[in-house]
Amino acid sequence: MIEGKKVNIRALEKDDIKKAIKWINDPEVIKHLSMVFPISMAEEEKWFDDYLKRKDDKIFAIDTKDGKYIGNIGLHKMDWMNRKVMLGIMIGEKEYWNKGYGTDAVKTTVKFAFEELNMHKVYLGVMGFNERAIKTYEKCGFVKEGISRDDFYKNGKYHDMVWMSILNEKN
Ligand SMILES: CC(C)(COP(=O)(O)OP(=O)(O)OC[C@H]1O[C@@H](n2cnc3c(N)ncnc32)[C@H](O)[C@@H]1OP(=O)(O)O)[C@@H](O)C(=O)NCCC(=O)NCCS
Repeated sequence: MIEGKKVNIRALEKDDIKKAIKWINDPEVIKHLSMVFPISMAEEEKWFDDYLKRKDDKIFAIDTKDGKYIGNIGLHKMDWMNRKVMLGIMIGEKEYWNKGYGTDAVKTTVKFAFEELNMHKVYLGVMGFNERAIKTYEKCGFVKEGISRDDFYKNGKYHDMVWMSILNEKN
């Protein structure tokens, strides 16, 4: 387990997907994510089984300090040669939004990537209209690197993808 100030980051269990499937079928939660189709339990179980076979991808559960499972955070596309990794996060329990849990989960996972995985860079893509996420990443020290124009079609419109990153200044 990786301990933060407000959250603990732990391995994702197959049982967790029973809760996560509600989040990824909630239009408000996925409003800023690339998911499009409603997802069945069979698809989600297959996704989990495929995930277990991947070596460059780690997805963790985010628990509050009193043990409530509230979301997932992932380190994707681990690139050991260039020492960079892509971060993704979803707090699925909406009543936990805007209370600092996302910020703590991101800070804790970035620290783990730098200090335990010896990564030099953590980067991510965020939809330009996801202001809460951009603010969260800025609070954690991420800076905007650039924009992929009209990268996503969502809610009847094209949206820019904002690329952000944080460097390990010590290494
Ligand atoms: C994005 C997400 C991870 C942020 O986590 P969180 O726990 O809600 O965020 P925090 O409370 O740590 O920080 C949010 C900050 O954004 C601010 N904020 C909220 N809405 C905002 C808006 N519309 N514009 C600007 N800032 C906003 C909050 O005030 C807070 O800043 P503060 O602490 O200085 O007041 C979470 O809301 C989430 O998972 N959302 C759904 C999925 C998603 O969008 N994932 C990210 C994909 S890139």
